[in-house]
Amino acid sequence: MTDTIDLHVLPAETLRGTAAVPGDKSISHRAVMLGALAEGDTIVENFLPGEDCLSTIDCFRKLGVEIEGPDNCMVKVHGRGPGGLTEPEDVLNAGNSGTTMRLLLGILAGQSFFSVITGDVSLRSRPMARVIGPLEQMGARIGGRQGGNFAPLAVRGGQLKPFIYSSPVASAQVKSSVLLAGLFADGVTAVIEPHRSRDHTERMLKHFGAAVEISGNTVQVSGHPRLKGQRVIVPGDISSAAFFIVAASIVPGSDITLPGVGVNQTRSGILDVLLEMGAGIELLNQRVEGGEPVADIRVRYNGRLTGVTVEGDTIPRLIDEVPVLAVAAATAEGVTKIRNAAELRVKESDRIATVAAMLGKFGADVEELPDGLLLRGGRPLEGVICESHGDHRIAMAAAVAGLIAYGETVVRGAECIDISFPGFASVLKILR
Ligand code: S3P
Repeated sequence: MTDTIDLHVLPAETLRGTAAVPGDKSISHRAVMLGALAEGDTIVENFLPGEDCLSTIDCFRKLGVEIEGPDNCMVKVHGRGPGGLTEPEDVLNAGNSGTTMRLLLGILAGQSFFSVITGDVSLRSRPMARVIGPLEQMGARIGGRQGGNFAPLAVRGGQLKPFIYSSPVASAQVKSSVLLAGLFADGVTAVIEPHRSRDHTERMLKHFGAAVEISGNTVQVSGHPRLKGQRVIVPGDISSAAFFIVAASIVPGSDITLPGVGVNQTRSGILDVLLEMGAGIELLNQRVEGGEPVADIRVRYNGRLTGVTVEGDTIPRLIDEVPVLAVAAATAEGVTKIRNAAELRVKESDRIATVAAMLGKFGADVEELPDGLLLRGGRPLEGVICESHGDHRIAMAAAVAGLIAYGETVVRGAECIDISFPGFASVLKILR
């Protein structure tokens, strides 16, 4: 078991300087997965060596794929080509990573062997029926605890039927799982979403040579493509950058630059909302790298933020940023309402409950809604001892709140930060 770590945070006078955030978690997972299925080698640069992505590497090694690294954030995947994965001798372990489990289930559904996948205590309580339903309709057989909703899950895959799936949730993990299964079906598989979720799978499938078509909220892929190994340059993770973007927006006098951050429209809702709240954010040197839009993000403190309503289509575009957005809202003038975000209840923790508990402890005026949060901003925050609840984004959001609270803040269980942002404390040190 990992030792539990306390992160001590003192109020910041100001944040200044330039620091890079690590590679994008969603894109790092997908690069390994598609690299494994492709013919030839895939080189991944700026891979995120966080625990979640290491779980993906570990699972693919158990499926017979040779993977070198991560070495200085470089990974080389020796692709196995179609039919190249082999039956794992042992249980696959996705750790804390929902993306690993749900996307891998899509791939395992198309394999003619038996496999079992599990995860840590948090992942074993997260709903899997949302992917198992469509995958079973495509022809896979998947069993698990509580009617198959919870891991450990046992998968008997094989030849799949193409499928048109209307997903009730805007979830890139559901969409990607079905699209990846669609690679093993004879014909065209389509996913229709209520709102557009992050589109990294679609972009990367195209990059590797698959036939993907997108029209509105529908994505379709043709089965049995010839995927070819590629070079993938992973942009900085906007979900990690968000902690410092918010921090510089609420700590007076701040002026920071975060180079090379992914600003894909399906992920950049946090920038739009903070701009609407009055933050001083500029995108510099905008470019496209490896099929993904990237920019250097400069954030200058621009006075006190104002409250906003966040709902509808914007929610999937900032779903992982809600904990830190709530910190911004706690300092803003007026009311912030976050709605249509019930998905937060089934993340690494119930993030509606854990954010409300965390900010409430700091002294913020925060109320849980069934599908979001209501914050009346402006109460002074007091440094406190708070728990991460094993959730990396709760731990980092609490650390950001600590930058503007009176006195010392201690984040208990801060080791979970390594799930998505190894080096978080060092970046904070560089900027303060
Ligand atoms: C992810 C999709 C999102 C997000 C998660 C990563 C992905 O989850 O919250 O951190 O890489 O596809 P959902 O698909 O459950 O919304």
